[in-house]
Amino acid sequence: MNHILKCHEIVKTDFVRGKNCYLFDSQERRYVDFESGIWCTALGHCHPRINRVMQAQIEKLVHVGTRYPNDLAEKAAMDVLDIVRIDDGKCVFLSSGSEAVEFGVQTARRTTNKKLLLTFSNSYLAAYGSAGRKSGDDWLLLDWSSCTTDDLDACLKSIPFEAIGAFVFEPGGSGSGFVKFPPKQLVREIAQRVKQAGGLLMANEITTGMGRTGKWFGFQHYDFQPDIVALGKGLGNGYPVSAVAMRRNIAEAVETSGFRYAQSHQNDPLGCAIAREVIATLREENWIERGRALGEFFLEGLQRLQAKYDVVKEARGRGMLLGLEFNPHETISVTWAYHALLEKGYLVGYYPAGSVLRFDPSLTMAEKDITGLLECLASLLDTAR
Ligand SMILES: Cc1ncc(COP(=O)(O)O)c(C=O)c1O
Repeated sequence: MNHILKCHEIVKTDFVRGKNCYLFDSQERRYVDFESGIWCTALGHCHPRINRVMQAQIEKLVHVGTRYPNDLAEKAAMDVLDIVRIDDGKCVFLSSGSEAVEFGVQTARRTTNKKLLLTFSNSYLAAYGSAGRKSGDDWLLLDWSSCTTDDLDACLKSIPFEAIGAFVFEPGGSGSGFVKFPPKQLVREIAQRVKQAGGLLMANEITTGMGRTGKWFGFQHYDFQPDIVALGKGLGNGYPVSAVAMRRNIAEAVETSGFRYAQSHQNDPLGCAIAREVIATLREENWIERGRALGEFFLEGLQRLQAKYDVVKEARGRGMLLGLEFNPHETISVTWAYHALLEKGYLVGYYPAGSVLRFDPSLTMAEKDITGLLECLASLLDTAR
């Protein structure tokens, strides 16, 4: 691999095919993918329904100019607004999660005329743009780990709610990799105060959306109805389509403000067709409920590891977004576990900074593959301790 620019650690370079939760290398060795790519293939790799729609749409129309959104985009927008529970709103389809979050952030600033946005310090929002930087005068970052539920006032008293354009909420603490869920009471309190002071609520559902946490969206675990929702990853099941949904009054305020968004891929028919089929498949085949139940089963297994091995500090999860945190240990670390699991044919996420192994499998994964991973991890821990 001499011509691939390294933006990440490169571990393996010969995956050639995928089927549901399995990846196959050039030797036809099978790996069970507990990361769904980068948390994208909620329905598994190369899902037949999505592939059929993709193939059919490729024959018709892939891309059109930004002046020509068509009926497919309109229908996809209605589908997205329906699942995010915005009764009357508008939507735009883009390419990446970062782009959708940054678009939402720009929208919030423009419609409220308040540039200061509030978010949690450990929330990952985007790879670039203002949402990527999350710094300077534009952002107020709250470290929720220091907030105790019995004294929320103390935690929130320094926040100038009148000046906040929006609370940008990432419900999985997930982008930072550590799988730490923000406390419900705190989120509710912030949302209330931001709304009362005239600000907007935006949910970053790039990772937590499309059933990942056992509900359609991560915000549904909180008493939180966003005005703006950014979606990505699972929306395309591996194809790069993202979306921003918002209430009609916000959309119309942006439209009349003279806002122009210069980006080539907006409301592309191919991405819209895929998003529609992903939503229909999740809904018709009841994958979200299945993912919720499977996530419980997985979490119970991880909790058994926690009870048995001192090196396991904590098992945590919501739906099919789970993490296993390790205590410091002479020989056992998450880096060691990642490589040992890979050797045995399991792909998991690992975050040395937080000592966390992370699991975001497809909602379509078989129970036996989860059992297989748990048994493999247990036997590795047995030999290493
Ligand atoms: C919570 C969250 N927001 C935004 C993004 C950015 O999405 P993308 O990588 O598709 O640009 C990610 C990516 O991991 C994410 O986890």
